[in-house]
Amino acid sequence: MIPTLEWTPAGVNFLDQTKLPHTETYVLATDYKQVATVISDMIVRGAMAIGVSAAMGVAIGIDRSTATSIPELTAEVDIICKTLAETRPTAVNLFWGIAQVRELYNQLAAANTPIPEIKQQVVALANCLYDEDIANLRILGANGAALLPDEATVLTHCNAGALAACGYGSALGVIRAAIEAGKKIDVFADETRPFNQGTRLTAWELTKDNIPTTLICDNMAGYFMGQGRIQAVIVGADRIAANGDTANKIGTYSVSILAKEHGIPFYVAAPFNTIDPETAAGSLIPIEQRAAREVTHVNGVQVTPDGVNIENPAFDVTPAKYITAIITERGVLRAPFTESIAAMAHKA
Ligand code: MRU
Repeated sequence: MIPTLEWTPAGVNFLDQTKLPHTETYVLATDYKQVATVISDMIVRGAMAIGVSAAMGVAIGIDRSTATSIPELTAEVDIICKTLAETRPTAVNLFWGIAQVRELYNQLAAANTPIPEIKQQVVALANCLYDEDIANLRILGANGAALLPDEATVLTHCNAGALAACGYGSALGVIRAAIEAGKKIDVFADETRPFNQGTRLTAWELTKDNIPTTLICDNMAGYFMGQGRIQAVIVGADRIAANGDTANKIGTYSVSILAKEHGIPFYVAAPFNTIDPETAAGSLIPIEQRAAREVTHVNGVQVTPDGVNIENPAFDVTPAKYITAIITERGVLRAPFTESIAAMAHKA
């Protein structure tokens, strides 16, 4: 399994995803500010990995605090949570991860728990969220694998794999589970400009696992669908609104329309904590705007003329009407999503 991030006595160790596929190096974050930088610089990325990283960020902030009283520590925890919450706006898992540790801290602080005991418990929770991510995505993978035919070529966009999580993945978890179940699956991976998560990360982790993979440029998906070469699309999600509208990596929306036009099922694979009941519809999801340099430069070389205007939205929203099903660890959700999501939330 690919170790994306790991709590160690020295700090949180992150596989540096900006250096892949050429170099496998790790960045050690020894305080919460460094964890925040690792998230905003996309050394770690992908919704589930961001969520667990944020939880570890709050935990390391509390663990390394020198506060000697609960009020002093609470004031620090406010700053820690605010700093981490300002790193990336779209993946709701970030806020979920912060909230998990914050809620435990609040309970322990309200009970006047000794500070060493608080430290031990928040670190244990962050590690528990890491383990749960892997366990949940294995279940999600099995739920999704059942939807795939015995033989299929699956198109995926961006990286919703082990690297986007704690070691198994959502969309790529479904593919892994289908192969583990004996199905003959191969993958078409979109390159995913401008950050190239498909080229650098999905192609890397799938070939490392010997899963047959073909890398295509983003603008080739329609061609291969038209040729009958793709039987299903599976993508991950950064935030799913209460009505099923789904924010995922920029370009996902276009793929969903192409899939609809060609009668190809379009699946979203995401753990239940990616669903945001507070966001009623996709139009309300905050979309991260990233630096122009990601578009103007390739491997440090400028490929655009000086002076051209650049826009770089990192995510788009796929309306629920283009989604065949949302695959979660709790089960497979189908339209009408407002009802199926609410019903599944109540089952928890
Ligand atoms: O900008 P990134 O690389 O963090 O975006 C990642 C994606 O869009 C993934 O598809 C998404 O997080 C789902 S996988 C957890």
